[in-house]
Order: sequence, then structure tokens, then C-alpha cells
Amino acid sequence: MQDNAIQVPLWRQLQGAAFLLMAVRSGRSMTAALEDIAPPLRPGVQALGFHALRWLGRAEALRQQLATRPPPPEADALLCVVLGCMAPTFGADVSSLPPEEADFSTGDPSENSARTPRYTLYTLVDQAVEAAKRSEDTRHQASFINGCLRRFLRERDARVALTEKNPQAVWNHPQWWIDRVRKDHPVQWQAILRANNTQAPLTLRINVRRTTQDQYIRALDAINIGAYPVGKQGVILVHAQPVPSLPGFAEGHFSVQDAAAQMAAPLLLDGLAATGEGEARLRILDACAAPGGKTAHLLELADCEVTALDIDARRCQRMGQNLRRLGLQADIRVGDAARPADWWDGRPYDAILLDAPCTASGIVRRHPDVRWLRRPTDIAQLAALQERLFDTLWPLLRPGGRLLYCTCSVFRAEGEQQAQTFVTHHKDACLMPSPGHLLPQSGVQETVFPDNLKGDHDGFYYAVFEKRHA
Ligand SMILES: C[S@@+](CC[C@H](N)C(=O)[O-])C[C@H]1O[C@@H](n2cnc3c(N)ncnc32)[C@H](O)[C@@H]1O
Repeated sequence: MQDNAIQVPLWRQLQGAAFLLMAVRSGRSMTAALEDIAPPLRPGVQALGFHALRWLGRAEALRQQLATRPPPPEADALLCVVLGCMAPTFGADVSSLPPEEADFSTGDPSENSARTPRYTLYTLVDQAVEAAKRSEDTRHQASFINGCLRRFLRERDARVALTEKNPQAVWNHPQWWIDRVRKDHPVQWQAILRANNTQAPLTLRINVRRTTQDQYIRALDAINIGAYPVGKQGVILVHAQPVPSLPGFAEGHFSVQDAAAQMAAPLLLDGLAATGEGEARLRILDACAAPGGKTAHLLELADCEVTALDIDARRCQRMGQNLRRLGLQADIRVGDAARPADWWDGRPYDAILLDAPCTASGIVRRHPDVRWLRRPTDIAQLAALQERLFDTLWPLLRPGGRLLYCTCSVFRAEGEQQAQTFVTHHKDACLMPSPGHLLPQSGVQETVFPDNLKGDHDGFYYAVFEKRHA
């Protein structure tokens, strides 16, 4: 809990969350927009912003009922943030919603805190009006906002019931996204959308060069932090904590990484025959590597040489810092994976990891803005880029080597279809047994998912290819 955040009045946090919503509506990511928020305000505003984006579909539907003519953008954003805070309690699909007692005042950056309510609905209305009055942009809309919210208080059950016919309000995703998930996953689509609206846990990957999963869980237990294992190196915290304050952070005992993302390194390394006894170490290309989560995992698990390539110089810098903290080394290069002539030394790789740029439709739990930022045309554009990277990198792999293609997407165009197209066009590519689409899951077990997909993780796609000898 952050004391300075608690002292921040709710109206200021509401203003901040409305600013974030306006930024997302104008096409900016929430992470980038948060940098414009004063640091003491940031944790509380982030928590509110996450909430607003998770419940935006419902909030927009309610706003449309309460004001048929949209108010100016600043007032609209403020109204939607507040309606998003007020509506879930009365939503029909209560099972998928955050706890009623979710506390927007603690400023806990983990956004996993569900403490005693500090604000009643009436306080929310009062503070929303205060927020409106205190800004030049919304001052003239304060009585309009007051009117809308007080009407909502009087008619809330009926108003929420009316939104039940609107899929965007029920699922809190744009209509095209709902349609796409439904088409791609006709059985699991509702479970996927529901999982997207849950809070992801804080999941760590233990650096096995420094400690073990068991030892680390015991170290946490010794300071009363509840945690349990996931996979071979993963640890999920029962309640999220500020990461730098966890034991062993500075010493590189762990990294933050979702459980599904932790599958990449073992998938690429397992079954990959070393080049031979006494010969050079495995040469691996991580083609879209920054900020280095999977590069680090590869280096933790295997004695290998990794070329960690990324087109984004700033992200490459972050990768360097991350690897240093973990005590690992890679050959970091800034470059375009689609232009190997600029960075490749001509020696084939034993293994290639292509963690391709994608819509990020599998990590909506952690980035609730993604669904509102994407456009339907993004899928085809990104799929074309993925295909180009795939085709360009394949010749860089030695015969008998392996390429792992992955995306953090649930859309089949960025997963299964991409892999099918690739094997059809490359006769020397053999698709090995692979996880395929992992669907996002909250800790709540969903019976619709097959056993191998159970757990608490983001959505991902994985396909392993082996290059046939001529
Ligand atoms: C999904 S992220 C990679 C995450 C990373 N593998 C990890 O585990 O931390 C995709 C990355 O691809 C990079 N990227 C996008 N287009 C690229 C290109 N043409 N060549 C190289 N990197 C590219 C982006 O800058 C981004 O860092």
C-alpha cells in the first residue's frame, strides 16, 4: 500500500483515469500515457484506468442511454470512467467482474488489492462532479455529469438490464473482436472474453542459475508472502507485490514473466541436438528479442550463444539492463529481422526463436487497452509481417535445426493459419508436436478448456518446426 497514493483525493485520480481513457481513444497506449501522470498519482490512476478499460463497453452503453447526444470528449471520458466503477456491481454477468469491494483508493500498482470499500456510489458521484468542476475542460459540464450520474443511481438496475442486449456491454470488447474470437474459437469464445476481463496474477520465472523454484517459494514464505509453483520455473504470488521489493530482485533471482511465455525457451531447447561433443555451443537467434524475457530464459537453461536482435533500440537498452541484473550475456543487436544482410554473419543458427510482433490479443488481461487500440485491419497487416519474418529467417537455420514461432495472440491468423501456410510453402519444414493455441485463463478453472490448457496464464501460440536434411 502506498501512503502517498492514499492521500490523493479520488477526484484527482478520476481526472487522471479520464485522461488515460482519452489517450487510449486517440490511439495511444495506456503505458505511454501513464508517463504523463505525476508519479505520486500514478498507482491510483493506473488502477482506475485498468478498471475503466475493462468495463468500457458497459460504461459506453450506459453513457449512451443517459445522454443520447455525446458530451465533449473530456466529459464523456470522465462519465465513462465513473460509470465503469459504478456499473459492475449491478452487471448481470457478475461472475466475470472484479470484487464489489474493489478499492480504487489504495493506489496499489498490483491492481490486485480487494480491500474494504472506501467509497460509496454516492461518494463516486460527488467526486466525479468535483473532478469536473476542477478542470477547465469539464467545468461547464459539471451539472450535466451530476444529472447523468444521479439519474443512474436512481435507475441503475433497469439501466444495466437494458445494456444486456448489447454484446459490447456484456463482453466489454469491440464487436469485431467478439466476432473474431467467436469465429476462431467457437467453443471457448465466452471463456476467453471472460478471462480477458480478469486480473492477471504476478507470475515470476525463477533464474535457475541463482536459485530454485522451491527455495524461492520458501524465501517468500519466510516473509509471509504466499506463493505457489506453476510449470517448472514459475511462481505465482497470491497477492501481487512491488517487484523490486521482492527478495533477490537485485541479485537476479527471478524475472517477471507470464506462465505461458515461460514455455518458449524449453520448447525451443527440448529435443534440439547439440552440434556435437567438443564443438561450439548452440548458436541461437532470438529474432524479436526485446525486452529479453525469453532470451534470458534461454541463457538460464542452456549453455548457448544468443544473438538477441530487435528493431527497437530503446527496447534493446532495456534488454541489456535486464540481462545484466540476471548475470547473463547475449550479443544484442539493433536491426530488422527482415534484413539479415544488415546483421547476420552468414553462419547458420542451430535454433531460431521468432516471437513475432502481433496484435497481443492474448495478453488483454495485462493490457486492457489493447482491445480498444487495435483495428480489425491490424490482424492482416501483422500476419503479413509475421509471414515475411518467418520466410526470411528460415534460410538462416541449419538443417536439423529448430525454429519456434510464437505470438501472444489468440487469433488463428497469427497462429495456426500462419503455421499451416508456412509448412505448405516450405517442403523442408516439419511441424513438430507443438502446444498450438494456449487460451488465456484466469485462476478460475473453466471446464471448456482441455486439460493441457488449464492454469493461470495469458493466451499464446506456439509451433516448433524442424528443418529437414536435404
Ligand atoms: C512480442 S515482442 C518480443 C518480446 C520478447 N521476445 C520477450 O520475450 O521479452 C516483439 C518484439 O518484436 C520487435 N520487432 C518488431 N518488428 C521487428 C523486426 N522487423 N525486426 C526485429 N524486431 C522486430 C519489437 O520491437 C518487439 O520488441
